[in-house]
Amino acid sequence: MVTNEFWLERWQSGRIGFHRDEVNPWLVQYWPQVARGAKVLVPLCGKSADLLWLANQGYEVTGVELSPMAVVQFFGDNDLTYHTEQVGNVKIHKANDLPLRIVEGDYFDFDETGFDACYDRAALVAMPEEKREQYVLHTKQRLSPQAALLLITLSYDGEQMGPPFSVLDFEVTELWGEWIRKVASEDLLQVDERYQGLDRTFYEETVWRITTQ
Ligand SMILES: C[S@@+](CC[C@H](N)C(=O)[O-])C[C@H]1O[C@@H](n2cnc3c(N)ncnc32)[C@H](O)[C@@H]1O
Repeated sequence: MVTNEFWLERWQSGRIGFHRDEVNPWLVQYWPQVARGAKVLVPLCGKSADLLWLANQGYEVTGVELSPMAVVQFFGDNDLTYHTEQVGNVKIHKANDLPLRIVEGDYFDFDETGFDACYDRAALVAMPEEKREQYVLHTKQRLSPQAALLLITLSYDGEQMGPPFSVLDFEVTELWGEWIRKVASEDLLQVDERYQGLDRTFYEETVWRITTQ
């Protein structure tokens, strides 16, 4: 069962194989045209370097993350000072010198709205099937009507184990709606030796986008 305790335990025991120290190349290549100063939401952000890349583009970045360890490591690893306030069920950690906040708490308790864009890498695919619809609905409710989205998903055959879960193309379209477009995909079995030796015929990363341009 993928519960909140599951994720907290993963962070406590350092089992964070999903984390990458470098900025995601798909983000740099496919981030949509969004005006500087826009409010960007990063659900289930972990301690991703992508938060920093987005803040350095001049956006007001808000990550949401369950694990206090992820928050402390993010600010510590990046030598950022920050201050914290408790707001309802969540703690808000604000960087002192960058337009960046991490909201520490359960994403489903996070109720701010009006975000202009959303970046989802390893968040939708971290949700078990029975929670995906609720996750996408909750995310849509946080976004303004014209908001842009960059979404990175995974799909694979063979034994279904997760997270990350395999989310097929039709499911992404069903969840996000007809305006979502596939902009790139790559079979990681072919290009990344970390995935070789898996008993699968494909393990595909797919990049999706909703833009209003
Ligand atoms: C697979 S990791 C991806 C992290 C990040 N997006 C990245 O690319 O490195 C999923 C993250 O979501 C967090 N998480 C899981 N369920 C959550 C929830 N309900 N609310 C907030 N964060 C959650 C986990 O602690 C974990 O850090």
